[in-house]
Amino acid sequence: DPKNPVRTSDPGALQMLKMLEGKNIETVFDRVVAQQPQCTFGYKGVCCRICIAGPCRVKKEDGPGSRGICGASAYTIVSRNLVRLIAGGAASHSEHARHVLHTAHALVEGHAPDYEIKSTAKLHKLAQRLGISTLDREDKEILKDVVELGYADFGRYQDRPLAFLDSFMTQGRRNKFQHTNVMPKAIDGTVTELIAQTAMGVDNDPVNIIFGGIKTALADLAGEYVGTTLSDVLFGIPEPIVSEANLGVIDPKMVNIAVHGHNPVLSEMVVAAARKMKAEAQKVGAEGINVVGICCTGNELLMREGVYLATSSASQEMAIMTGALDAMVVDIQCIYPSVQTAAECFHTKIITTEGIMKTPGAQHLAFKPETAMEDAQKLVTIAIEAYKQRDPNKISIPNERHKLVAGFSIEALTDIFSKVCPERPISVLTDAILSGQIKGVALMAGCNNLKRSQDESHIAILKELVKNDVFVIATGCSAGAFAKFGLMSPLAVEAYAGEGLKSFLKMLENANPQLTTGLPLVFHVGSCVDNSRASDLAVAMADELGVDIPKVPFVASAPEAMHEKAVAIGTWCVTLGLPTHVGSLPPVEGSDLVYGITTQIAHDVFGGNFIFEVDPLIGAQKLLNALEYRTWKLNIHK
Ligand code: SF4
Ligand code: FE2
Repeated sequence: DPKNPVRTSDPGALQMLKMLEGKNIETVFDRVVAQQPQCTFGYKGVCCRICIAGPCRVKKEDGPGSRGICGASAYTIVSRNLVRLIAGGAASHSEHARHVLHTAHALVEGHAPDYEIKSTAKLHKLAQRLGISTLDREDKEILKDVVELGYADFGRYQDRPLAFLDSFMTQGRRNKFQHTNVMPKAIDGTVTELIAQTAMGVDNDPVNIIFGGIKTALADLAGEYVGTTLSDVLFGIPEPIVSEANLGVIDPKMVNIAVHGHNPVLSEMVVAAARKMKAEAQKVGAEGINVVGICCTGNELLMREGVYLATSSASQEMAIMTGALDAMVVDIQCIYPSVQTAAECFHTKIITTEGIMKTPGAQHLAFKPETAMEDAQKLVTIAIEAYKQRDPNKISIPNERHKLVAGFSIEALTDIFSKVCPERPISVLTDAILSGQIKGVALMAGCNNLKRSQDESHIAILKELVKNDVFVIATGCSAGAFAKFGLMSPLAVEAYAGEGLKSFLKMLENANPQLTTGLPLVFHVGSCVDNSRASDLAVAMADELGVDIPKVPFVASAPEAMHEKAVAIGTWCVTLGLPTHVGSLPPVEGSDLVYGITTQIAHDVFGGNFIFEVDPLIGAQKLLNALEYRTWKLNIHK
C-alpha cells in the first residue's frame, strides 16, 4: 500500500516508530508516502533531461511524441539513463577507493604516522597477484609499488587492462572482456568516457550504449578491488568475530557515537580514539564511549573490530530519534540529508568529514590521513561535550539487539575449508554442491528501497534460500538486515537452515575446533565495496571446477536495490556470468529493447542475466532454478 507510512519490518525500527507516535517527527517513511504517486515517465526511464531543451518525455504512440526533441527514441533515452546510473556508481566506489589509496600513499611517503601496514600477509598476496616482486623487500617498498599501480589504474591512459581487475579474473573472463571490447584501461577515464558517450547528440545505439555501461561497471569492480584489498592491508583481513546489532546497542549510560557512510579510513581512527578516551567520557558522568555503526562504515568496523551495528540504510534516522545518540560522524554515500533535520529535534551533533560531503547546519571537520588521530580525538570530544546536553525526557531506545557472527573474508572462509581439505580448500564447497548437500552459493547484497517495506524482501529471500540448502554470503545493507533480525547468528541455523545446509555447517564446525563460536546461518563478507570478495569466491570456485564463472552454481540478489552503486554492482555481476536478481525495478520498462538486452542478450554474450522480480518468493524461486540448472549441467559433464 503506497499510502501506508509504516514501511519497515525491522523490529527495532517498528518499536521506534511506536515510541514516536504522536510526537510529530517526520521520517523517511512519511516522505515516501508524500511522494506518491511517483512520475511514471521517470519510473520507466523515458524522461530525458540530458540537455536543457528537455525534459522530453516520450510517449508510446507513433509520430513526433514518440521521440525527444532531438529525435532520440525511447531505447536511446532508457539506455542512456540506465548507464549514467552505472557511471554514478562507479564514480562513488572509485572515489572511496581513491581515498584509501591516498592514505596508503601517505603512509609509504611517511606522512600518515597513525596508520600502519596491519596485514603483511595481505600485502604480499596482493603484490604477488599484481606481479610485484616481494623477494627481499621491505613492506613499505612493496606497498609503494602497489600504490603506484593503483594510481596508474585510476587515471593515466595506458595500453594495458586494469591491473586491479585483470589479475583477479579467470582466464575465460579476461578473454571475454577483450573480445567484447569491454575491458577498461583506466577507472576515471572510463567513467568520463561514458558521460561523453551519452551526452546530447553522441551515441544513440542502445547496444553500444549498454556495452559502454558494462565497461564502466567493470571499472567499478576494479575500484572495489582497490578499496577492499588496500583496506585489508591497512586495517587487517577480517576474521570471525562476535558482535550485536539493532538499535538496542545504543547504550543510555555511554557516550554514543555513530559512524555512518562507507569509508573505514576515518572511522577506524574514531574507534581507536574512543578506546583511548574513556577517562574523558567518565569525567562527564558516562560509563565510557560506545561507537556504533550504520550502513557500510558500520559493516567495515563490524568485520574488523566487532563494533556494534546500530542500524542500516532506511532506518538511519531512528538512531538519532533514540535521544541517546550524542554524535553522528558521517563520511560518504547513503547518508540521508534528513539526518541533520532529525538531529535538530535532539541534542545530537552531525559532523561531516569529507570535502565532497557537507550538510547545511552540520559541523564540518575536514579529515586528513596526515592528522588522523588528532582529527578523530576532536570528533570524540564533540560527542563527549554533546552528552552533557542530553534531554533525559527524550530518551527512548528500542530494546531490540541480536547476537551475530561476522568477519568472513574469503581468507577466513578458505581457512575454515582448509581444515577439511588443506590442499584444495574451495573443493570443500564445490564438492558439497556437486553431491547435492548444498544447492550452490548466493550473494545477497544491496540497499533498502522503500518501494516495499524495509528489509521484508531481504528476509523473505534469505529464508527461502537457506531452507533450500543454499550457502549464502551477504554484504552491505542486506547483511545489515540479517544482523538486525538475529539471522546472522549460529542460533538461526537450527531454526531456518535446510537439512543439507545444517549438516554442511556442522561438518565445518567439527573440523574447526579452534573457532570460539558456531557458524552463522548467513556469512557476512563485508561492505558494498567488499562485493569484490564475492567476485573472488566466484573466481575461486570456477578455477576449482575447471570451468568459467557462467557455469558455476553461484547467483546474486539485490532484493531492495536503491543506489547507483547497486546498478553498477548488478551489471558487473551479470558480466561476470552470474544470474542476478533485482527486487526493485530499475528504470528500464520504457523500452522493450533495453529490457531485452539486460535480461536476454546479456545472457547470450556474458552468460549472466538480470532477473527483475519484485515478488520476493518468486524471485527466490528463480534463483533456486538458476542454481539447480547449473549444478545439473555440471554433473552431466563430469
Ligand atoms: Fe530531449 Fe534529446 Fe535533450 Fe534528451 S537530449 S532532453 S531527448 S532534446
Ligand atoms: Fe553500502
